[in-house]
Amino acid sequence: MDKYSEVESESGNRIIKETFSEDESREFAKKMGEKALEGDVYTLIGDLGVGKTVFTQGFAAGLGIKEYINSPTFTIVQEYQGGRLPLYHFDVYRIGDISEMEEIGYEDYFYGDGVSLIEWADLIEELIPKDAVNIIIEKDLEKDFNYRRIIIESRKRENSSFN
Ligand SMILES: Nc1ncnc2c1ncn2[C@@H]1O[C@H](COP(=O)(O)OP(=O)(O)O)[C@@H](O)[C@H]1O
Ligand SMILES: [Mg+2]
Repeated sequence: MDKYSEVESESGNRIIKETFSEDESREFAKKMGEKALEGDVYTLIGDLGVGKTVFTQGFAAGLGIKEYINSPTFTIVQEYQGGRLPLYHFDVYRIGDISEMEEIGYEDYFYGDGVSLIEWADLIEELIPKDAVNIIIEKDLEKDFNYRRIIIESRKRENSSFN
């Protein structure tokens, strides 16, 4: 049975979206993907199984990417070129040391002409650009097994008119 939450609050640069199904999270992420701009960096923070990859799949659909997206298990980053902008999907869960990020040339991605989405970005916090948009996903089992709280924190556009 479908349950939908219309609760969506906004205060300053913080948006909270509550979802009750995978599809609802996907749809919300898709809208963000549709609005994404060249050079955007999004962090995805939350426990295993919370929905970071689901969010990435919806976001990619919003960029017009048709390819199936899964968690890159053996590579830190996976590139998808088929959409409106290139998508650089990182999963740094298994990273041993941040020198591995330097080895793959992360700066070319983060400061490049595509959009970066970084699962487990909290593990490489020191490398995340200051104007990144943070996406925190949380469960609340008291509400529902499929409930997710998606918190979008953005410092972007505060002092800037061009990004
Ligand atoms: N509201 C929801 N939003 C996103 N995923 C949900 C939701 N409810 C249940 N799920 C399930 O949670 C799991 C999320 O998996 P995944 O995206 O791979 O997590 P992560 O990448 O954070 O480890 C999927 O099995 C998905 O079906
Ligand atoms: Mg994942």
